[in-house]
Amino acid sequence: MRMYDLITKKKHGEVLTDEEIQFMIDGYVKGEIPDYQMSSMLMAIWFNGMTDHEITQLTMVMAKSGDMIDLSAIAGKKVDKHSTGGVGDKTTLIVGPIVAACGGKVAKMSGRGLGHTGGTVDKLEAIPGYKTALDRQEFFDTVNKCGISLIGQSGNLAPADKKLYALRDVTATVDCIPLIASSIMSKKLAAGSDCILLDVKTGSGAFMKTLDDSIKLAQTMVAIGEGAGRRTVALITDMDTPLGLGIGNSIEVAESMDVLKGHGPADLTEVSLQLAANMLYLVGKGDLDECRKLAEKSIEDGSAFETFCTMVKAQGGDDSVLRDYSKFAQAPFKAEIKAEEDGFITKMNAEAIGEMSVILGAGRETKESDIDFSAGLMLHKKYGDAVKKGDVLVTMYTSKEAAFKGAEELYRKSVVIGSTAPAKEPLVYARVEKDKVEKY
Ligand code: URA
Repeated sequence: MRMYDLITKKKHGEVLTDEEIQFMIDGYVKGEIPDYQMSSMLMAIWFNGMTDHEITQLTMVMAKSGDMIDLSAIAGKKVDKHSTGGVGDKTTLIVGPIVAACGGKVAKMSGRGLGHTGGTVDKLEAIPGYKTALDRQEFFDTVNKCGISLIGQSGNLAPADKKLYALRDVTATVDCIPLIASSIMSKKLAAGSDCILLDVKTGSGAFMKTLDDSIKLAQTMVAIGEGAGRRTVALITDMDTPLGLGIGNSIEVAESMDVLKGHGPADLTEVSLQLAANMLYLVGKGDLDECRKLAEKSIEDGSAFETFCTMVKAQGGDDSVLRDYSKFAQAPFKAEIKAEEDGFITKMNAEAIGEMSVILGAGRETKESDIDFSAGLMLHKKYGDAVKKGDVLVTMYTSKEAAFKGAEELYRKSVVIGSTAPAKEPLVYARVEKDKVEKY
């Protein structure tokens, strides 16, 4: 078999066989197929797509390119969650402890920030002492003890995806349904949970910008999960506006704790409750209404917050920062952006707000960059809010004062103040289950 012939086939929109997909991924992981040939294949897939069968085969071969984790040493039903990536999306830190407090088991491996989107592992590392790398036994023991463990992806989880993702990132081939679906589902299947909840983001801050594409991506991933014997549900949630008010690592941990303590921002609380209810539904805790009530109760009685603190301590972290946020390392510089006119925020480009946080130091400019955990921003006004000239719109935090100028320029370019209030947008657009799409 020759990679050249497989590229030619895909260039003409033909279907690759199971053996050809296996050959291509094996060869790429071993370094026998060079980046330039794989780049060409990725672009051919971007233009010509893949059949459902090809996507499933690609996912399975990528999942099996490394360890397939066996979670049977953890008692009870394990449920995983994955977001397709967003700005201010800190829901794992909220829904994980809610589900664990209600009796579900969350053995979750998370990723780092990517481009303008944040990552759970970076946020967790803002908690002093918290270890995101545990060995397999410590990971299992923590879930058995606390109901939850949140760690970074182990080196050998779907190595084919790791290599392919890095190549897609620099060849403009990230935004492609077969490639996103196989990337996400290969990691989820390898990570071993019994059920999977997918949070597919839609809008300006998401990889999928339209609702139709987001639903198609969700259906593709749900079909792959169910085909592999894992109960899988997807929610399509808004990412036209950042989720919550805070963007940045310690800022987002603090805001997540606000939700767990019952006084977080309304949008973040609502999306988190819907995600948590669906995870509890997947592990068999009742119908969606009953599961929502369980989730709400775990916030009201403090058990979700205490579950998170117990996990943090078990993983070496200092949980006192979760009770008193002033104990987080503080950014030395702070600046405000003020409204220059009266009106309503009629547009807020979430991707640009995410890029602002990267400029301030909260994300990586290059793969090797360090993260400034104290950097980020707090939005005081969001899409739809009325503003008066002189109102503070955003407070920015950084360790590099020179970053304020570029961040403010980006904000002014990406936020529009108009004269009439815009129509409200839903927070959750749709729910996708096997063979079923409910639009809200
Ligand atoms: N997240 C992933 O893990 N993979 C993608 O391709 C996109 C988002």
